[in-house]
Amino acid sequence: MTSALDAIRAAVGDGWSADPAVLAPHLVDWRGRVHGAAAMIVWPRSTAQVAAVVRAAAAGRVPLVPQGGNTGMVGGATPDGTGTGVVVALNRMDGIGAPDLAGLTLVAEAGAILANVHAAAAAAGAAFPLDLAAKGSATIGGLVATNAGGVQVLRHGTMRARIAGLEAVLPSGAVLDQLSPLVKDTSGYDIKQLLIGSEGTLGIVTRVALRLVAAARTTVVAWAGVASPVAALALLQRLRGDLGDVVESFELLPLAGVELVAAHGLKPPLATAAPWQVLIELASVRADPGLAAALADLLADADVLDAVIAQSEAQASELWRIRETLPEAERRDGVAVKHDIAVPVVALPAFVAATTPAIEAAWPGSRVLGFGHLGDGNLHYNVRAPAGSDSAAWAAANGAAITTAINDRVIAVGGSIAAEHGIGSVKAGELARVADPVKLAAMRAIKAALDPLGIMNPGKVIGRDGTIGNGNVVRQRGP
Ligand code: FAD
Ligand code: MLT
Ligand code: ZN
Repeated sequence: MTSALDAIRAAVGDGWSADPAVLAPHLVDWRGRVHGAAAMIVWPRSTAQVAAVVRAAAAGRVPLVPQGGNTGMVGGATPDGTGTGVVVALNRMDGIGAPDLAGLTLVAEAGAILANVHAAAAAAGAAFPLDLAAKGSATIGGLVATNAGGVQVLRHGTMRARIAGLEAVLPSGAVLDQLSPLVKDTSGYDIKQLLIGSEGTLGIVTRVALRLVAAARTTVVAWAGVASPVAALALLQRLRGDLGDVVESFELLPLAGVELVAAHGLKPPLATAAPWQVLIELASVRADPGLAAALADLLADADVLDAVIAQSEAQASELWRIRETLPEAERRDGVAVKHDIAVPVVALPAFVAATTPAIEAAWPGSRVLGFGHLGDGNLHYNVRAPAGSDSAAWAAANGAAITTAINDRVIAVGGSIAAEHGIGSVKAGELARVADPVKLAAMRAIKAALDPLGIMNPGKVIGRDGTIGNGNVVRQRGP
């Protein structure tokens, strides 16, 4: 083991540390719930160094945990509790190439931060249309590994749709070079598709060719109040039907979510306490001064209780800040039993109408907070403890049963228990419980074929024994 760690250190020069103080922030997830231990952290600076690290780890059977911005929601970047693993932090591989405006692509290294990729694309009159509140920390490698979603999936797809090419180091240390941004390539299996969404369990992403779009010349942001998710979905359909392919984002929040954020000093956008509220963003590459007026006419005619249209960029940013503050506001409010579910879009309103009262009746005092990406069929369907209770203790006592009840309902309507955050270690047990056995068997076969030594992010996605955590300490801790 020591000689393997020596070889790993030799592979990265001075880019390593075993100092507990340096390691500490890399051993706990963003929510502060999943804790682990590691022998050391390394910061490779090149694909060649990543390959040398992996070769040394394979030779010494040292577990590796790839890490980017550490903003993941399911413990995927947190090592287990054994202390034998090495965190491979990609942050120092943060290069961003010049955009290719002919092919509308841009090559970034895995450690490049999303906000910096946005800036590089914008500087060239293009845009990278994948956005989420963690943009200031989340890295391209992490976004690929989790097949991240965010607030522009409605029009531009998940990270998978934004990838034109990929380079990665496989668990053998071999470098997979599929970086060339080909629009078409049917020369054999498309291996990069396996790596996208594999959460660091099939290889370490080192460089990515990203698909850009032309920058929008016209953007309109609005906030509307509706009576129900049914009315919200009807509004989305009306927007798409009447205004065409300009609906960039459509985010649903319950009144309780708006009120939670208001406690953070962000004034609710509407005078009306509408039970459900939506944030709408329209974007067009054409200069379209009539778009805002068209939206205003539509909102005046549609089944909405109240609405405002941002009159300036500052007002538009303020509306987005409300939506983006919700995860942090919820985290500060206490521990919630969180779910990142997807169901067929048409089934979502009925799912909410049936599941929320059932959960709140079965767990008296609990409060469901369902918000997020309605048009993707993806809600962050979180259950908060009774007001005034010890939320960590309540979540620890009731979380597993609540999650089972909700996930069973999700599966019953053909949904997924992991829409955009992935499985990590936290949901490995639930995946083993609810996944199609044929799919699980195929996943294990692929894992065994690519990572026969089991060194690549062990215990994530495919838990060693299917239990939650696999050596992680999953603590329900307060804010
Ligand atoms: P990390 O957390 O460091 O790692 C995530 C996973 O990817 C781990 O399994 C890790 O092992 C693996 N990994 C990291 N880098 C590599 C690499 N180079 N090669 C292989 N594997 C790697 N997610 C959404 O999808 N939509 C949202 O709207 C959204 N909003 C968020 C809002 C907030 C406030 C926060 C804190 C998070 C949010 N997230 C959202 C979750 C998170 O930002 C995403 O999962 C993101 O993709 C994680 O990127 P990261 O660089 O932080 O990855
Ligand atoms: C979001 O959509 O805000 C994120 O996925 C974060 C979360 O679920 O907390
Ligand atoms: Zn989300």
